[in-house]
Amino acid sequence: SQIKIAVLVGSLRADSFNRRLARAVEKLAPDDFAFRHLQLNDLPLYSQDFDAAYPATATRLKKDVEGADGLLFVTPEYNRSIPGVLKNAIDIASRPWGTNSFAGKPAAVIGTSIGSTGTAMAQQHLRNVLAYLDVPTLAQPEVFIHFRDDLIADDGSIASDGTRKFLQGFVDDYVAWIRRFAR
Ligand code: FNR
Repeated sequence: SQIKIAVLVGSLRADSFNRRLARAVEKLAPDDFAFRHLQLNDLPLYSQDFDAAYPATATRLKKDVEGADGLLFVTPEYNRSIPGVLKNAIDIASRPWGTNSFAGKPAAVIGTSIGSTGTAMAQQHLRNVLAYLDVPTLAQPEVFIHFRDDLIADDGSIASDGTRKFLQGFVDDYVAWIRRFAR
């Protein structure tokens, strides 16, 4: 049976480097892994008032997370942290109180940026949030990709042999991590 992975990309930009990285990484996974990018662009800004009557898009996000066997967070760094888009989605799916949709879902965090520190600070912040939400997150390898125009080839694969081998190592460890938790 298929292992379902919910992918949360922390950028809404049409040509997002992180979405391209996510697609390239997905190509390195085995056939029984099915990746689905969750829709974040129509979510309202979270308000605790929602807890009385959750908006339909927010409930959809919770169901999408709950239906997944594992999570993959692929995020840019905004001002040395995670983008508000991603934090908002996480806040939405973590509530109403007592219905944290993330609890127990195994995950990994990767990202790319044009800055030389390659999302390291954002990922560290995200790991802190995920720990609180009871998400067992793959510790190693860390994946901080410095984006350059030649990173991803026209066919969507990772262009350089060295980076592709590194990311294949990450995917292999990620796949083993998710399988450890699969029902
Ligand atoms: C950035 N960028 C950025 N890069 C980085 O390495 N560290 C940072 O703290 C920031 N801060 C930041 C803030 C804001 C508001 C923006 C719009 C951008 C640059 C960022 O890496 C670049 O825009 C990436 O292209 C964003 O990822 P996507 O959208 O291409 O996936």
